[in-house]
Amino acid sequence: MENLTMEKVVNYAKNYGFIFQGSEIYGGLSNSWDYGPLGTMLKENIRNFWKQKFITENKLNYGLDAAIIMNPNVWIASGHVASFADPLIDCKKCKARHRADHLISEFTKGKETADGWSNEKIEKYITDNKVVCPTCKKSDFTPVRKFNLLFETKIGVVDESKSTVYLRGETAQGIFVNFKNVERAMRAKIPFGICQTGKAFRNEVTPGNFIFRTREFEQMELEFFCKPGTDLEWFKYWKDYCINFLYLIGLDKEKLRFRDHTKEELSFYSKATTDIEYLYPMGWGELWGIADRTDYDLTVHEKHSRKDLHYLDPETHEKYLPYVVEPSIGLDRLFLAVICNAYNEETLDNGDTRELLKINYNLAPYKINVLPLIKKLHNEKAEELFNMLSKKFPISYDESGSIGKRYRRADAIGTPFCITVDDETLNNNTVTIRNRDTTKQDIVNIDDIISYIEEQICV
Ligand code: GAP
Repeated sequence: MENLTMEKVVNYAKNYGFIFQGSEIYGGLSNSWDYGPLGTMLKENIRNFWKQKFITENKLNYGLDAAIIMNPNVWIASGHVASFADPLIDCKKCKARHRADHLISEFTKGKETADGWSNEKIEKYITDNKVVCPTCKKSDFTPVRKFNLLFETKIGVVDESKSTVYLRGETAQGIFVNFKNVERAMRAKIPFGICQTGKAFRNEVTPGNFIFRTREFEQMELEFFCKPGTDLEWFKYWKDYCINFLYLIGLDKEKLRFRDHTKEELSFYSKATTDIEYLYPMGWGELWGIADRTDYDLTVHEKHSRKDLHYLDPETHEKYLPYVVEPSIGLDRLFLAVICNAYNEETLDNGDTRELLKINYNLAPYKINVLPLIKKLHNEKAEELFNMLSKKFPISYDESGSIGKRYRRADAIGTPFCITVDDETLNNNTVTIRNRDTTKQDIVNIDDIISYIEEQICV
């Protein structure tokens, strides 16, 4: 929908039970969000879609579910303890706190990203270009400081024996430390990938834009291990794979673009990195990061753990540290893109507004809504149908209000099919199936409902 605002998305998500403010009855906790009944279902469907395409249907990849709290040496080795930090700056006039790199990209409307710049370079740019504070419009800032994003906690019972551990800042490290386990247990041969979905935690300086940037979020990551020298081919393979995944899930092509990182932005260990960006209501934002990480991760873990992480090619007998290509996407950011992309408002002939979540059928929380036309006449048969169909699909049941209102509610949450039970059902064993997008109605025999629906929801 054109002119969709984030405010509208937040209200919609709350009203229909997708996302609530976290700890709301206590006044909330800033930038924390709880997924409601429909949000939980939609999120699970998106996660399952990713798992289906990246694990089940791709014979190169395996799944993993590593612990959130890991040995702290993992984070020392990976470099997160020393340098997983954002540049922080405060406005001396109004005391507003900003991420200094974001200040520059907002000021230049995205022309400069300041990714990978030193503190000195950021400060000089802000002074030379008189970048202003978005809150008070003055240009008077403190020096830039680095702020580490890892959340610390303690394990152990007694104070003296407690030791510092970290909530994982990304799921990727759980994969790197299990590279050898998966290779051995699965008799995996290079090239192969390991996929993981799960929560990650970052003490973000400036969270915001609803679920776009939060301190607790879910990632879906693939670390793909390949022979050095083949990495750029695989980088291209996964770039194509990821963008096609987003088309398949239903995002509009014109709202997606690649943004290649410049040499200056690239991490020192990366040969190539690109972001797939989506046009959110607040503007273009990173949805998926795809990086050629070379052998950096395995090298540092080999050094710190003193375990041999080399791969021995069973055919050529070559021994090498594999290179890694990593497509990493935030599930919450994809959820937000899916909702923003699918939300629509249509004006009907009678002047009413029809809210419509035109979502991929596979992602819809409920596939079917069963409706008895007249409660006291058709309830029994409709419940029988609900019991039969709910064994096969996630479905809902709605018996209150006019049939038009019930259609509207189903359209608004993206339910693809409404099945109405009426006198024809009792007399002829047929139901009316209404399609969400076309509003076209088909008469279908009860015995054929499952194949009718299955034909339309299989990807
Ligand atoms: N292992 C690589 C990695 O974590 P990243 O670019 O920091 O790379 C990958 O994160 C993806 O995770 C991003 O493209 C984004 O979709 C998501 N993400 C990162 N930080 C986030 C946050 N604070 N809130 C929500 N999603 C986030």
